[in-house]
Amino acid sequence: MIKPHGSDTLNPLFVYDAEKHHALIKEAEGLPSITVSSAAAANAVMMGAGYFNPLTGYMNVADALGCAENLQTAAGLFFPVPILNLVQNIITISGAARIALRDPNVEGNPVLAIQDVEAIEEITEEQMQTMTSKVFGTMDSGHPGVAAFNSQGRFAISGAIQVLNLSYFQNDFPDTFRTAVEIRNEIKEHGWEKVVAFQTRNPMHRAHEELCKMALEALDADGVVIHMLLGKLKQGDIPAPVRDASIRKMAELYFPPNTVMITGYGFDMLYAGPLEAVLHALFRQNMGATHLIVGRDHAGVGYYYGAFDAQTIFDEQVPEGALEIEIFKADDTAYSKKLNKVVMMRDAPDHSKEDFVLLSGTKVREMLGQGIAPPPEFSRPEVAKILSDYYQSLDS
Ligand code: ADX
Repeated sequence: MIKPHGSDTLNPLFVYDAEKHHALIKEAEGLPSITVSSAAAANAVMMGAGYFNPLTGYMNVADALGCAENLQTAAGLFFPVPILNLVQNIITISGAARIALRDPNVEGNPVLAIQDVEAIEEITEEQMQTMTSKVFGTMDSGHPGVAAFNSQGRFAISGAIQVLNLSYFQNDFPDTFRTAVEIRNEIKEHGWEKVVAFQTRNPMHRAHEELCKMALEALDADGVVIHMLLGKLKQGDIPAPVRDASIRKMAELYFPPNTVMITGYGFDMLYAGPLEAVLHALFRQNMGATHLIVGRDHAGVGYYYGAFDAQTIFDEQVPEGALEIEIFKADDTAYSKKLNKVVMMRDAPDHSKEDFVLLSGTKVREMLGQGIAPPPEFSRPEVAKILSDYYQSLDS
């Protein structure tokens, strides 16, 4: 099986040993505590679940800047984005060597993790700007990822963490949320060797479905792990339970049995386009995938990134050998009226735009909101029904 990033075996930071876990929960009750940002909480969940292997905790400012500027920590570990615990106010934890981190996203702010405080550093505005522009490629506060990143505090608490719970994800998505450890185990149980991961934050229409099938076929892979984001999204994106239901329906009806796993991970969307694609590849390697599909405008938003920047970054900025996972680069994909099937546009050079069934996201939302199903060439009718019910429920 493919090795995790940066180590021979996966080292999730969740404390699995029941006795240790119990003792740490007890200890946490007596520790100074702080409620962290949603982004920091998501980082803890990802580290707890093994996805951010081999990190042992939150980065200090030097490592964070190293990752933003050169995609590596001071010690030379390849990591494409800073993983920080940025807080507004350090009064409640001042002077403490060990602190409890509380979850901002669950009622009562339960303890998520215990952190060893390596350092508390105040980040300058200049350093924030450097990180923002490097990671997101823009400083525009209209970019949802930039806005979320900069809305955090300016004190960076670095140091190792022991994760004690995985936030709301297990409760809210019991069938779908998985740790990287669980996905590795399931891949092993299936006996899969070549495994394609599909990142998504959307429901899956025909193009998405066919992308997975094309990758399976072209790579002669054993299976595909659909791995959906279950954390926070920008306003207007479709909530995870609706996406989950529609993806499950599609897989049930349109994939051969035992070729697809429907799973999800607990992270807030960064909308960082190319660099998020690299992070996506890193954590899919950690969950045991050998390939990641990267198509058009992967992890993008608005017009901040070129349609295929998230593919070229792997050739231009990711050093040879930094990651073992391979990228399946997909071209723009749509239904061809001439060929009566979904194709990648590069495979249909004789086609003009009019030969494809192309609908904008806005148009599709408009249709679904009015109870009109998009054409079956664009969306499976059973998927369209679930989405249409959701959009119509918004109006009532
Ligand atoms: S993402 O933000 O999670 O990347 P989305 O769920 O829309 O967004 O896309 C999932 C994956 O499918 C990404 O790799 C994206 O590039 C790819 N993709 C989506 N639609 C198309 C399309 N029509 N043609 C090619 N690739 C696509």
